[in-house]
Amino acid sequence: MATATAPAPVKSDVKIEYTQCLIDGKWVDAASGKTFETINPATGDTLAQVAEGDAADVDKAVAAARKAFDGGPWAKMTATQRGNLMYKLADLIEKNKEKLAALETLDNGKPIRDSLNADLPLTVACYRYYARWADKIHGKTIPVNGPFFCYTKHEPIGVCGQIIPWNFPLLMQAWKWGPALATGNTVVLKPAEQTPLTALYVGQLALEAGFPPGVINIVPGMGPTAGGAIAKHMDVDKVAFTGSTEVGKLIMEAASKSNLKRVSLELGGKSPNIVFADADADAAIQGAYFALFFNQGQCCCAGSRLFVEEKIHGEFVEKLKGIAKSRRVGDPFDMKTHQGPQVSREQFDKVMGYIDIGNKQGAKMVAGGSRVGDRGFFIEPTVFDGVRDDMTIAQEEIFGPVLCVMPFKDVDEVIGRANRSVYGLAAAVWTKDIQKAMAISNGVRAGTVWVNCYDVFDAAAPFGGFKQSGIGRELGEYALEHYSEVKTVTMKL
Ligand code: NAI
Ligand code: MG
Repeated sequence: MATATAPAPVKSDVKIEYTQCLIDGKWVDAASGKTFETINPATGDTLAQVAEGDAADVDKAVAAARKAFDGGPWAKMTATQRGNLMYKLADLIEKNKEKLAALETLDNGKPIRDSLNADLPLTVACYRYYARWADKIHGKTIPVNGPFFCYTKHEPIGVCGQIIPWNFPLLMQAWKWGPALATGNTVVLKPAEQTPLTALYVGQLALEAGFPPGVINIVPGMGPTAGGAIAKHMDVDKVAFTGSTEVGKLIMEAASKSNLKRVSLELGGKSPNIVFADADADAAIQGAYFALFFNQGQCCCAGSRLFVEEKIHGEFVEKLKGIAKSRRVGDPFDMKTHQGPQVSREQFDKVMGYIDIGNKQGAKMVAGGSRVGDRGFFIEPTVFDGVRDDMTIAQEEIFGPVLCVMPFKDVDEVIGRANRSVYGLAAAVWTKDIQKAMAISNGVRAGTVWVNCYDVFDAAAPFGGFKQSGIGRELGEYALEHYSEVKTVTMKL
């Protein structure tokens, strides 16, 4: 069994300092005066009251962002100066990494060793990567017919609304702010209501770095109100969203019904992870486990459909079961903890609901399946074997520590089954055979394919989805396209 009862979480002494909206360079209460509670998912206790922004606050933030975009120091800054500000922000985040990691773990529940060793370094690297882009964004000269000189310029889009989820709060903020700021836009960010604390702290660091008022604004609040106001705002030029496919569709609809703001979406997934019999067995088993259970299973690209070649299927499942039962589930502030709580009561209930459906539809539960402890939102690492492609747990995003294992026979069959999904975010293949690796990476319809590895992220490598997993790419040079307009200038000679 995974640790039978979750130990009482060690109290973190991290102070919560910023809980208001950040608008036009100032910390302010919501216009309505309303607040909402942010919860510690390890205990269910309230951590802090946070300003609950809505349409009125979004209006103010957008006006400030518009003013900053249209004139003033940000608009007049050179690209290099912009990059330097982003470097300063990265340095300040690095300087405060222990504090930010603790806040992230407190608000989200992820183990502190992940916050410290994954979220923080990736966040800092992302800001630095885009800081380096700031003065390297340029157009082309085009040899048109006639006596004309034609060139393109890449200009910022304007005011960018950004709505982020709770699974990687710091990192999602960096993925959004990095390309937006490097290209010279101004932003209004709405963090997820489950995890607003680190976004607000980084807002303070951005002020300290010297970003002029109005360039970055943060409006914490609920999805339909604060998020909805951003999506339908007539003076927001672009909206970037990460979260559920369901809400992604609403964002696109609101954009089309308002001012045709540009839209980029990073949505759900049901990513196939394919293990051939010839794979390095230990690497594949560890990789298959990590692919799903990292971050409590709360990853858009989680390897949630594990296809294992028939010949090795039985022993593979036995080994997975062994790992699942040996994982420490509990206090996220204990450096030895592998798995913390799910982010919220709502997510906990949703995941437990899927476990129930898996059992009812006849999948074979070989590990886990129960709650851990009696407070907080902990769930045992759960493995279902004998999962059929048409079962609900094989089709819908569970977003929790529940792995579905399905045997397969050959390359063509597994490609067909892997592609039978409305999603197309990521995939992976484990094999020593280069032909199989190429067949899978070419044949699977997904924005990212990992070969003999999983969840390898780098700020330089683009990430995003085919099909209903999204529109556009984040990270890398590709993300810059989603934050710039191309202007063609033609001059008579
Ligand atoms: P969600 O899509 O509702 O929330 C994500 C963000 O969108 C939050 O900031 C939320 O406040 C905002 N939002 C919600 N409704 C909105 C609306 N009508 N207009 C504008 N913004 C809105 O996701 P939720 O409810 O937290 O989780 C539900 C499921 O979504 C999860 O179980 C998981 O399957 C998926 N999800 C996927 C993520 C990813 O990384 N792709 C991240 C979080 C959730
Ligand atoms: Mg929701």
